[in-house]
Amino acid sequence: MHCTVLSDRTILLVISGGIAAYKSLDLIRRLRDQGAVVRCVLTKGGSQFVTPLSVSALASERVYEDLFSLNDESEMGHIQLSRESDIIVVAPATADLMAKMAGGVADDLASTVLLASNKPIMIAPSMNTEMWNHPATQRNLKQLIADGVTVIGPGSGDLACGEVGAGRMIGVDEIVSAVEAKLCEGAVAIDAPLKGVRALVTSGPTHEAIDPVRFISNRSSGKQGHAIAAALRAAGADVVLVSGPTNLPDPVGVTTVHAESALEMEAACREALPVGVAICAAAVADWRPKAFAPGKIKKGAEIPKFEMVENPDILAGLSAAGSSRPALVIGFAAETSDVINEAKRKRARKGCDWIIANDVSAAAGVIGGDNNTVHVIDESSVESWPVLSKVEVASRIVARVAKYFLGATAEQDSQRTGA
Ligand SMILES: Cc1cc2nc3c(=O)[nH]c(=O)nc-3n(C[C@H](O)[C@H](O)[C@H](O)COP(=O)(O)O)c2cc1C
Repeated sequence: MHCTVLSDRTILLVISGGIAAYKSLDLIRRLRDQGAVVRCVLTKGGSQFVTPLSVSALASERVYEDLFSLNDESEMGHIQLSRESDIIVVAPATADLMAKMAGGVADDLASTVLLASNKPIMIAPSMNTEMWNHPATQRNLKQLIADGVTVIGPGSGDLACGEVGAGRMIGVDEIVSAVEAKLCEGAVAIDAPLKGVRALVTSGPTHEAIDPVRFISNRSSGKQGHAIAAALRAAGADVVLVSGPTNLPDPVGVTTVHAESALEMEAACREALPVGVAICAAAVADWRPKAFAPGKIKKGAEIPKFEMVENPDILAGLSAAGSSRPALVIGFAAETSDVINEAKRKRARKGCDWIIANDVSAAAGVIGGDNNTVHVIDESSVESWPVLSKVEVASRIVARVAKYFLGATAEQDSQRTGA
């Protein structure tokens, strides 16, 4: 199931002149796969990176580039371009276009449409890290947020220019999820099967501090957990995401609580109760160093030895939370061998309702990757799904959760009515 909110919606995609413009081609395809009509505005800068021909071929629509073109204006004026769309997405959003938007400049088609818009605007910034961190860009960012623009990303990592840091446009999957969530806001969701259900999701790794500068962690990226939180939101749920340290932006419309360590994550989960469904996708460290050194441990002749203590088991704790136990508790099992049997044992040991088992051996490329191959295990069955994107896995899990709650409601109704 996808939130059908994207079906037949018109997305006005503004592509500006950043190196990430090539990703907007995939974005067009992905939005159209979900049933959206995608209309594109290409800035002069944008057309240096992707051609109008590729954009229009993928969008199956003509591309709008020129403010003063008689054809463009008579066919689809700049005001109409905004009025006839449900949302405007700027991806990539350059430092230049952000500055124009923040300053109310309207000197080309993209900036004029954005200024004339009465629709929600979402931007996915993408630029060199110095450009991003520049006080001018940060000032513009604050202004745009104050003006009601939804900003998604940027993420951190290797940049196309060879530098490392913040400024990378967030992934296409995350942009699609954010658009879905934005369109679901304000109860415009056509299909909101989880409306009224409160959900808790954990995501990402934990950092277990050794001293102020060192920690023990794992390679979890948080992509799967964040995608689940966004999909639950798109299905109408009221979602609390407890996230470990990741490079991902907070999903739109989701209450995100940032936790560093397993202890902090556990406390945040307890705080979030009561919830109807809890999905534990975080890779919580099993152990933490027994002692935290308040000063940086100096390199010396002796190699330090760390005594470890066990961390709280968040999944088992939620599964045994007595009267606060969520109606449905779902865990993830990251296994490297005998995946299904190990996961079945884990489900029994933890006392949760379903386990989503995945193979996280290096060869599977799941950790940090965009795809996942999972087996959904409950008390009586094992469902094996094909290789899917993490966003698609999230959608399917949420569809299963929705089915569970619809079934539960039907049962309660029949008990109430005696049917
Ligand atoms: C090779 C190259 C790559 C660029 N990449 C980016 C980028 O990723 N982000 C950005 O903000 N500007 C980038 N720029 C600068 C913009 O293209 C420039 O500011 C342009 O005026 C943006 O126009 P627009 O915002 O109207 O599309 C790049 C320029 C070049 C030559």
